[in-house]
Amino acid sequence: MAARKIRRVGVVGLGAMGAGIAQLAIEAGFETVGREVSDDLGSQARDRIAHFLQRKVDKQQMAAGARESALSSLTLTTDLTDLAGCDLVIEAIVEDLVPKLELFRELERIVRPDAILATNTSALSVTEIAAATTTPERVVGMHFFNPAPLMPLVEIVRAELSSEEAVDTAFAVGEKLGKRPIRCHDTPGFVVNRVLIPLLNDCLRVLDEARVSPEDLDTAMTAGAGWPMGPCTLVDLVGIDVHVHASEALYEKLREPRMAPPPRIVAMRNAGLLGRKSGRGFYVYD
Ligand code: 3HC
Repeated sequence: MAARKIRRVGVVGLGAMGAGIAQLAIEAGFETVGREVSDDLGSQARDRIAHFLQRKVDKQQMAAGARESALSSLTLTTDLTDLAGCDLVIEAIVEDLVPKLELFRELERIVRPDAILATNTSALSVTEIAAATTTPERVVGMHFFNPAPLMPLVEIVRAELSSEEAVDTAFAVGEKLGKRPIRCHDTPGFVVNRVLIPLLNDCLRVLDEARVSPEDLDTAMTAGAGWPMGPCTLVDLVGIDVHVHASEALYEKLREPRMAPPPRIVAMRNAGLLGRKSGRGFYVYD
């Protein structure tokens, strides 16, 4: 293993995924710098993390002192240059190529030349993101699953030019975060989404084909196939917009009809029914 020692971790983008990743980082004892575009979004993320850590304290899975010390190792900023001292930066911003390319170009100028840059992209090419930099060997994918603090897997994605050291370091960090990392190459959807996206799209097509309700489809897949949550609940959790985007990105690359998002969820996305985060998707949330 050629893993390097990582002390300080940066997380860019503190939405549901980024906040979850930052939570894992502070729980694992990394000094963590979280960057959001506004103070408001930053403090929302801190509140979310503080809430989930409090639940752990309430359930005696964590000592109150450990929660305090974890929270005190999280620094929030809106200024990217505050990531200068990070040994590893994990990007979890909007799932669009252009802003990601821009961010990696900027990060390269800010962080030390030996710092590792990771993207949490779920369906874009890590190689294309790495190509925005002049040092693509230090760029890898670290693909976490929603909800990041609970799902054990992290896919460590080797892009065309990723160095052994970058891959091994990301793998070792994944382990330190308490995850079960796997190694894979930069193919569309990596491992899980290559299988899960078309499967979820099949499920959603069955809604219309079998004229079944979301509740009954969810019951079918939990009670009949042993899924931990039904497909409609899962797509609501992941975000209808995120799922549509990932489906489109995979369809564009693989041209398999099953990858394309069913019209029904494209319409939902267009109507602003984004799942849990907007309060309404297949289900209504408080
Ligand atoms: N962040 C941090 N902590 C959280 C959390 C979150 N988002 N959500 C819940 N928790 C904590 C809570 O404190 C909760 O306890 P509490 O209710 O007492 O406060 C505790 O975790 C346990 O939560 P649950 O009781 O809801 O846990 P379950 O045992 O029901 O399991 C689950 C929840 C692990 C999410 C399970 O339902 C599951 O495995 N679902 C499938 C999820 C899945 O497939 N995810 C992958 C999606 S695909 C993806 O992410 C790829 C991307 O690229 C699109």
